[in-house]
Amino acid sequence: MIRRPPDTGPPGAWAGDGPGEGLVVLGQGMIGEVILETRGLRKEFRGFVAVDGIDLRVRRGSIHALIGPNGAGKTTVFNLLTRFLPATSGTIVYNGQDVTRLRPAEVARQGLVRSFQISAVFPNLTVLENVRVALQRRLGTSFHFWRSQRSLEVLDERAMALLEAVDLAGQARTTTVELSYGRKRALELATTLALEPELMLLDEPTQGMGREDVGRVVALIRKLSAGRTVLMVEHNLSVVADLSDTITVLARGSVLAFGAYAEVSRDPAVLEAYVGTEP
Ligand SMILES: Nc1ncnc2c1ncn2[C@@H]1O[C@H](COP(=O)(O)OP(=O)(O)OP(=O)(O)O)[C@@H](O)[C@H]1O
Ligand SMILES: [Mg+2]
Repeated sequence: MIRRPPDTGPPGAWAGDGPGEGLVVLGQGMIGEVILETRGLRKEFRGFVAVDGIDLRVRRGSIHALIGPNGAGKTTVFNLLTRFLPATSGTIVYNGQDVTRLRPAEVARQGLVRSFQISAVFPNLTVLENVRVALQRRLGTSFHFWRSQRSLEVLDERAMALLEAVDLAGQARTTTVELSYGRKRALELATTLALEPELMLLDEPTQGMGREDVGRVVALIRKLSAGRTVLMVEHNLSVVADLSDTITVLARGSVLAFGAYAEVSRDPAVLEAYVGTEP
């Protein structure tokens, strides 16, 4: 019951089986209509099939939500996409390139970046220092670069711009441990942005938040989605309805439905999968 949304660009964008599938030529370069595609993606954990041959397509520039009941395989899919876990079989094509066997750092360098968990933010550093560390990670380990005072200043300017983007500039000098939970998630987004994601993966960005913080994060995600693609796992269906262009529903490791929210949310199979499992 996999559906394709009617408004996904030129008809040819979804057709065909060859390696150039989903690609259209725009301007001078080859820019794919589909930024990410998986074919038959599968993950077994000692015989238990957590992800059972998933075909996922994410359109460039969209906000795509991956939803489904607990244990459906959503986080595992993210771990496969970022190469934190090796796939048992199947392929992952990102920007027209097969990245199924790349190392996690290589995938991230190409712009497929997952938001860091709060545990990856250093609590005893200031907010600004945390973003600076993330920028340094992006720029690599070139020692000479860090020796000049000027390059450190450039780094601080860039870090401040990222903090402004997530509304944290006023707390740049605050020690991270003192931030509220919601503000820590905003910092996490800033450190993710430091890696210049072209496709940003967000795993439950509003998890554990009160209503006010949820509203702020929704507004933030909408703002940050300009000029990039967002793939997010989200349990809060009003957030999904509010933000996403397209959703894919997973259940027990398989794709149950795919399409626009209004359409998919009426699907009897989707409703059934959610009965009794929605928080
Ligand atoms: N490292 C692992 N070893 C064994 N089983 C695992 C492992 N990681 C995940 N699983 C199992 O795979 C299934 C999918 O888990 P996953 O965490 O991907 O689900 P999810 O959709 O993210 O769920 P949730 O909504 O609760 O976060 C679950 O049954 C889980 O127990
Ligand atoms: Mg999960």
